[in-house]
Amino acid sequence: MMMEVLAHWILRCLVFLILCFFILVPSTSAEDFLSIACCAESSYTDKSLVWVPDDQWFKDKKTCRNLNPGNERARIFDIKSGKICYNLPTIKDQDYLIRGSFPAGETKGTKLDSVFNVSIGVTPLALVNSLEDFVVEGIFRAVDSYTDFCLVQGKGDPYISSIELRHLNDSEYLNDKPFSILKLVNRSDLGGIGDTRFPEDKYDRIWKPASSLYSRTNSPVTFHNNASTKVPLKVLETAVTDSNRLEFLQNDLNSGDYNYTVILYFLELNDTVTRTGQRVFNIYINNERKEENFDILASGSNYREVVFNVTAKGSMNLTLVKVSNGSEFGPICNAFEIFQVRQRDQRQTDNNDVMLMKNVKQELLMSNQGNTLLGTWTGDPCLLEPWQGLTCNSFNGTSIITDLDLSSSGFQGLIPTSITRLTHLKTLNLSNNDFSGQIPIFSPSSNLTSVDISNNELQGSLPESLISLPDLKILYYGCNQLNNDLPSSLNSSKLSTDYGACRRKSRGPIKGIVIVAAATGSALVTIAIGAVIVCLYRQKLMARRKYDAKRLYKAKREAAKRKVLDWPTRLSIALGAARGK
Ligand SMILES: *[C@@H]1O[C@H](CO)[C@@H](O)[C@H](O)[C@H]1NC(C)=O
Ligand SMILES: *[C@@H]1O[C@H](CO)[C@@H](O)[C@H](O)[C@H]1NC(C)=O
Ligand SMILES: *[C@@H]1O[C@H](CO)[C@@H](O)[C@H](O)[C@H]1NC(C)=O
Ligand SMILES: *[C@@H]1O[C@H](CO)[C@@H](O)[C@H](O)[C@H]1NC(C)=O
Ligand SMILES: *[C@@H]1O[C@H](CO)[C@@H](O)[C@H](O)[C@H]1NC(C)=O
Ligand SMILES: *[C@@H]1O[C@H](CO)[C@@H](O)[C@H](O)[C@H]1NC(C)=O
Ligand SMILES: *[C@@H]1O[C@H](CO)[C@@H](O)[C@H](O)[C@H]1NC(C)=O
Ligand SMILES: *[C@@H]1O[C@H](CO)[C@@H](O)[C@H](O)[C@H]1NC(C)=O
Ligand SMILES: *[C@@H]1O[C@H](CO)[C@@H](O)[C@H](O)[C@H]1NC(C)=O
Ligand SMILES: *[C@@H]1O[C@H](CO)[C@@H](O)[C@H](O)[C@H]1NC(C)=O
Ligand SMILES: *[C@@H]1O[C@H](CO)[C@@H](O)[C@H](O)[C@H]1NC(C)=O
Ligand SMILES: *[C@@H]1O[C@H](CO)[C@@H](O)[C@H](O)[C@H]1NC(C)=O
Repeated sequence: MMMEVLAHWILRCLVFLILCFFILVPSTSAEDFLSIACCAESSYTDKSLVWVPDDQWFKDKKTCRNLNPGNERARIFDIKSGKICYNLPTIKDQDYLIRGSFPAGETKGTKLDSVFNVSIGVTPLALVNSLEDFVVEGIFRAVDSYTDFCLVQGKGDPYISSIELRHLNDSEYLNDKPFSILKLVNRSDLGGIGDTRFPEDKYDRIWKPASSLYSRTNSPVTFHNNASTKVPLKVLETAVTDSNRLEFLQNDLNSGDYNYTVILYFLELNDTVTRTGQRVFNIYINNERKEENFDILASGSNYREVVFNVTAKGSMNLTLVKVSNGSEFGPICNAFEIFQVRQRDQRQTDNNDVMLMKNVKQELLMSNQGNTLLGTWTGDPCLLEPWQGLTCNSFNGTSIITDLDLSSSGFQGLIPTSITRLTHLKTLNLSNNDFSGQIPIFSPSSNLTSVDISNNELQGSLPESLISLPDLKILYYGCNQLNNDLPSSLNSSKLSTDYGACRRKSRGPIKGIVIVAAATGSALVTIAIGAVIVCLYRQKLMARRKYDAKRLYKAKREAAKRKVLDWPTRLSIALGAARGK
């Protein structure tokens, strides 16, 4: 018996260490490229890129689907509220490109019907709508050793099929706007034939061939005067040109006023253009002249790139017109990029609350691997949508956690001690779970006004620290296995309390089990049987109330628990069995 208990705890510690490992490792090492194929069975290499499955972030294969007609694999998150974030390793102050793919389609005859926001950290990047295929790309500067890429619950279930994170070492995109996120609108390889990306593009940007309207021109690339460029040569060696004007229209911009960054890339491809003045043109964006008498060769090289800031609404008209006074050649253009400039959301959640909630999650995970609620606790606890069970409020410019309701969520194990250090918490509801062990000590500086820990398996005594909390008005603790020596102050206090009375009629449906069942489907039967056993034994024991009966009950309960995902216990049983042989 002792040995088994020991083995059990050693295993628990091991699990904890392994968890720490997984949490710490991604934030300390970063590869230049990270390509995640959601729901893939294993890693694979495609077009010189290594793709990894997303089971490091989400283990549950039950949320995986194939989307018809493309038969693309996607993860469809069944969350009721909040958000789902992929926590990705980044290097602080380095620039990254991130691309998420959201294919439209149907699964098992049902068409996806979802609308949700995609965000980088707490800054929304784009709205995805399942009516069509979406590829969302953003360029950002990492503010931490990790970056959350989140799907924020809107209408229907959010889904995703792949994430591509590329380190932009030495890129200049954000040099004049480090606090912005650039959302890709258009990246065109004018006159190009097929897509160009890695390995031609070292950042794995995807250059799409565009513009059949104008005459295509191409020539092997030679740079004069040592011009260097980060754009792939394959993109620059094709261009479009016209004897008079080039006009590019982008009609699908957001209807509100937004700032855009437009980057134009020029390489003179015609050998007969060797002098300044031979090819001169004006550049207009939305009828505003941005450059007058633009001459590629004027910079002393045959390569030039220009960047413009534009505020636009709904559409953008980019026009290059040959000057009327003696330019021999009409305009040329090799490539362009248009980005929408989004201000980083500066809102934040109280650092201490964030740290403590992450600790609460880790503590809960020790006995609740596979709990569906915990699986959704990703990204910032409050922003953009709070974690399920949390209520946040604004306080002095930051978000703080004021309510924590984990009632009826199928939790077992110890009450996380980090909960007692959430200083802004006003109400705490842990009722209708299987929390066991001692009630932790609460700090006297706590602002709690209401605590409900009723209907658990808590032992020991009701701590004085809890009863004497200065602001506490409500305290329910009945239906536990607490002993009877109540602190004397309880009677004199003005608390609204159940005095430990157990008015339990039926536990009702346990939310956690419903959630787990909904998510696991086939495990439903196992869990249902487990739950029935638990309930039967509980009722029997209520009647008997004998010490040894309690022990038997506990043992059976443990047995029932073992059926539900508690693998440290399962391992310890396996070890015990091996030892028995
Ligand atoms: C997406 O985010 C924007 C900006 O924060 C917000 O106005 C909009 O309501 C969100 N849409 C959905 C479906 O969540
Ligand atoms: C960026 O690239 C340079 C070489 O071009 C390399 O020396 C440096 O280590 C790289 N930085 C990071 C953070 O990978
Ligand atoms: C564009 O705007 C940024 C600030 O948003 C500014 O720093 C930069 O100089 C501007 N660039 C040009 C070409 O006007
Ligand atoms: C270009 O580079 C070569 C050697 O790399 C050098 O000899 C030459 O002077 C450079 N030309 C200019 C214009 O900088
Ligand atoms: C990008 O611009 C090109 C040239 O105007 C156009 O043909 C293409 O449809 C645009 N692509 C997107 C995704 O808007
Ligand atoms: C666009 O940029 C200007 C100057 O950088 C700024 O004042 C303005 O608020 C921005 N507009 C939007 C819609 O972001
Ligand atoms: C260069 O310009 C001349 C005269 O317009 C034209 O005949 C020739 O095809 C052009 N060459 C390239 C590579 O575009
Ligand atoms: C685009 O801008 C150019 C130059 O300002 C103008 O001549 C042209 O009519 C515009 N095109 C459209 C479709 O608005
Ligand atoms: C023709 O364009 C040049 C710039 O390339 C300019 O300096 C000159 O004044 C222009 N001539 C006339 C007659 O407009
Ligand atoms: C509010 O925030 C400011 C600046 O962050 C800080 O100086 C101040 O102490 C805060 N006030 C309270 C009551 O926490
Ligand atoms: C705690 O949550 C349960 C629902 O699960 C609810 O019935 C109970 O009233 C709540 N306790 C308090 C003190 O609000
Ligand atoms: C919490 O209580 C302390 C006093 O114990 C008080 O100073 C503080 O403002 C309270 N915080 C909140 C968020 O109510």
